[in-house]
Amino acid sequence: MKKILDLITEVTEEAFEKAGYDAKYARVTVSNRPDLCEYQCNGAMAAKKEYKKAPIQIAQDIVAQMQDSAVFEKAEAVMPGFINLTLKKEYVTEYMKQMAADADLAVEKAEDPQTIMIDYGGPNVAKPLHVGHLRSAIIGESIKRMGRRLGHKVIGDVHLGDWGLQMGLIITELALRKPELPYFDESFTGEYPEEAPFTISELEEIYPTASGKTKCAKDASEEEIAAAAAYKEQALKATADLQNGRRGYRALWQHIINVSVSDLKKNYRRLDVDFDLWNGESDAQPYIAPMVQKMKEDGYAYEDQGALIVDVKEEKDQKEVPPCMILKSDGAALYTTTDLATIVERMQDYHPDEILYVVDKRQEMHFIQTFRCARKTGIVDENTKLTFLGFGTMNGKDGKPFKTREGGVMRLENLIKDINEEMFRKIVENRSVKDKEAEHTAEMVGLSAIKYGDLSNQASKDYIFDVDRFTSFEGNTGPYILYTIVRIKSILSRYAEQGGNAAEAEMIDAASDAEKKLMLHLSRYNEIMAGAFVEKAPHKICAYIYELSNNFNSFYHETRILAEENKEQQASWIALLDLTRRVLEDAIAVLGFAAPERM
Ligand code: ARG
Repeated sequence: MKKILDLITEVTEEAFEKAGYDAKYARVTVSNRPDLCEYQCNGAMAAKKEYKKAPIQIAQDIVAQMQDSAVFEKAEAVMPGFINLTLKKEYVTEYMKQMAADADLAVEKAEDPQTIMIDYGGPNVAKPLHVGHLRSAIIGESIKRMGRRLGHKVIGDVHLGDWGLQMGLIITELALRKPELPYFDESFTGEYPEEAPFTISELEEIYPTASGKTKCAKDASEEEIAAAAAYKEQALKATADLQNGRRGYRALWQHIINVSVSDLKKNYRRLDVDFDLWNGESDAQPYIAPMVQKMKEDGYAYEDQGALIVDVKEEKDQKEVPPCMILKSDGAALYTTTDLATIVERMQDYHPDEILYVVDKRQEMHFIQTFRCARKTGIVDENTKLTFLGFGTMNGKDGKPFKTREGGVMRLENLIKDINEEMFRKIVENRSVKDKEAEHTAEMVGLSAIKYGDLSNQASKDYIFDVDRFTSFEGNTGPYILYTIVRIKSILSRYAEQGGNAAEAEMIDAASDAEKKLMLHLSRYNEIMAGAFVEKAPHKICAYIYELSNNFNSFYHETRILAEENKEQQASWIALLDLTRRVLEDAIAVLGFAAPERM
């Protein structure tokens, strides 16, 4: 279904033409003075130059053409040349009816669907998921769902960090603890055990212990410093051996991946985040050698102090963009190399129109280099867009990166647990929901608190994770949106109990200003969804549903729906409620959470 703004613009275009002005000036926007009008057109001001006339005169000529319009109740020219527009109630009602009859709620599917890959999540194997990974998962998931809602083909890839030093560290530590395992015996040629030699909790302890052994305190003795260096040396060697295909290490690595991935999947399921591909840095390895070879042959990569580099600076650069390092002097591949090889793989397997990376904004320079190098060396052609969506840091109330009460890194699991407990407490305290149900409800509302708390901020900005504020039932929060939906559901079910059938309810014209305002806001859903996706801005959907909830609640507070005696009027309100509920539920599904039946 067409956007209401476009429909209105068609009408003003006609008026411009009839009055003898170019239709290109006729664009209508939502009014920024809602006290005066609903929509406005500022084209008369822009047309002043071309027609050498006072804007107010142009505006008057145009509104003269719109006096008996079927769309506008009022079309006024006001100084210095604005055209203020107010829609006819019946026009808005008609749009509402069509929207309600449309399973897509008037959201148009893309005419030219794109294949878009989203690289998000980005957890590192064997390290616990922490809050830093939370934002990537939440924002990426929402953008994926937005794209699909608009009819694009979107492929989400978790892009595991599964190839780095952490693997060598774990292998080194395990070799110390369990030297008898066959993985460390280079002469072993038999089958390795199917069972992993560790559990996830052991794994999560092994990595930080090993990592700790490579560091030492400021006042460390010489012996301690030497021991740490030797340990790190071993871990680097183990990493290189693994990457060069040492059989026992590969087998051990596979165990680490399996144990880690099944734990990651559990955590992501809890967040209702779902990846199509569970590829990792390791999957890109086979593409590195041929890629490097080609970069050399084509003359892009050259040696500089032993390392292999590609220049990516450009004339217009404000700040220095260092060359892209492809291979270190010892021949080792780097993060950039892996990311480039991953693009090679993605182009080969999916030939996407766009690859979007949802990663911490502190990695921006890495992506500038990677993208430029990919383009320069022809890994991507001009038809494939590479986009970096860098997000800010999630801070605690002290304005510093979010930590546990003890000052450690907050694990995602614990954060979710804290929120759910707080939600449970509030729900049990406020309402008479049965306990078992309350636990499940607390999880649903808790998820809305976390996700909405994040998504309602512009992604690139840092934000403060404030448990008290995010879990509040009032204000711009997830629980408030859910509360509004639950309120509507409860009215609808009471209407059904009274024998009414919401599916048959017919909408009639708005009976009050608050009701018309609600309708007008509903009518913008398609425009908001499309715009939010173009800008990759879930916060715009949040702002929209927050205002929608406010508009609904204002209407609700001044309207006695269930006690209404005029059945036709009552049915109309029920239809409006049901449409509001559908839009809210559709929008939160795109954001990545859902509403319970009761709260
Ligand atoms: N694993 C990385 C990290 O934790 C994030 C990966 C982002 N994606 C990418 N293609 N580089 O920092």
